[in-house]
Amino acid sequence: SLYDFGMIGLGVMGRNLLLNMADHGFSVIGFDKDAAKNSALEAAATPGTTVKGVAELATMVQLLERPRKLMMLVPAGQPVDDVIASLLPLLEQGDVVIDGGNSHYTDTLRRVKQLREKGIHFMGIGVSGGEQGARTGPSIMPGGDLDAYAKVQPMLEAISAKVKGTPCVAYLGKEGAGHYVKMVHNGIEYAIMQLISESYTLLQKGAGLNNDQLHEVFKSWNQGALQSFLVEITADIFLQNDDKSDKRLVDVISDKAGSKGTGKWTSQDAMELPVAVPVIDTAVAMRTLSGYKEQRLEAEAIYKAPENTIHADTEMWIKQVHDALYFATILSYAQGLAMLREASSDLKMEIPLPEVVKVWRGGCIIRSSLLEIFTQAYQKNADLANILLDEGVAYLVQSVESNTRSVIAQAASAGIPVGGFMSALSYFDAFRTGRMATNLIQAQRDYFGAHTYQRIDMPGTFHTEWQQH
Ligand code: 6PG
Repeated sequence: SLYDFGMIGLGVMGRNLLLNMADHGFSVIGFDKDAAKNSALEAAATPGTTVKGVAELATMVQLLERPRKLMMLVPAGQPVDDVIASLLPLLEQGDVVIDGGNSHYTDTLRRVKQLREKGIHFMGIGVSGGEQGARTGPSIMPGGDLDAYAKVQPMLEAISAKVKGTPCVAYLGKEGAGHYVKMVHNGIEYAIMQLISESYTLLQKGAGLNNDQLHEVFKSWNQGALQSFLVEITADIFLQNDDKSDKRLVDVISDKAGSKGTGKWTSQDAMELPVAVPVIDTAVAMRTLSGYKEQRLEAEAIYKAPENTIHADTEMWIKQVHDALYFATILSYAQGLAMLREASSDLKMEIPLPEVVKVWRGGCIIRSSLLEIFTQAYQKNADLANILLDEGVAYLVQSVESNTRSVIAQAASAGIPVGGFMSALSYFDAFRTGRMATNLIQAQRDYFGAHTYQRIDMPGTFHTEWQQH
């Protein structure tokens, strides 16, 4: 008999998603050239479920119920185009092909058009939650045409994470919207990870906390307003022993940070729109700067750190850093969501922000109790320009503002790098300033380049012959 769903690429994500589908009663078939991955798939299946692995793409396609529904989980870029090229001769009109990887949305747009000409539905779907999420319930961000979504909706709802019984999946807009939302999710992920690592330095260098104490702090934070997946795993990380030395693993890990590009794409696209996402930009820049290991060691010998130390007592400092992390985390979501709003109208994707924040509440890497608060904000006003303009969010931000300023001031005076926190605060201070100092930039542009300016007291465009003094 024929199978309900097919998967191309049985790496850990593909395999786990497929097993998750099988656990929810779907009969599934996976394709991977690597025979070992096919047997690994079958061996991992829950007894009683229908799971098959094959080493020929054509065999898999023949064994699928029509219209066929299949997903590919292969590395972004050329591998996706290669899979499409080998699939095309095997497919028929009405089939649905899903790209569940981290593809760039412009590639997705191109592929949607390419397959539409052949009568095949192509959907870009963001999947978040890592290995574990894929197996037990990821957050799923689908975009594309609604007819195709209807065909896979029951399956996606079945396998997704659930929050209060609601599946963490919803139709998130047209064409490349799924991958766009996932890209911005990853930008926010970069920002929050940067902020957590700054909090770690502030507690470790600023207050001398050891790994056990850091574990306790993050564990208690995860039980309060900062409850989130990233804070939760951070607490765990401090306790992990190294099996190659007598140290904690975190202390022997190199500080050069890797990246696969999705954070960078978020910043690049934000510049393109344009929309301001400085916390994400800083997070990307700090991963890059972390790679300058030799130069940093050289500079460390030249530039001595200031002698100033943190003056708050330890308990007080922990509370202040908590508040700064809360503040800057809200700012990171605010910038990412503002970006989605702008991109949605600019690229005509019709991304429903109230649904985005609901989908992010569970399963994904940036899930946190804050998303419940944002969900309420969008319930009050679905067209909110920036979540900072919501009354409830404003109240929360104001409650931690002064501790945030204090942390940043002390970090600056002690020479502890907190670029993420600083970016969050400077965005906030500019955003809450009704009249910025950019009138001077307009004057300068007009002075040297006759770029013209507008006035505050009358309509029109003006140019002045500026006088040298
Ligand atoms: C997720 C993650 C996932 C992955 C990214 C981040 O939502 O499950 O975002 O997509 O961890 O690849 O990668 P880098 O940090 O390597 O850029």
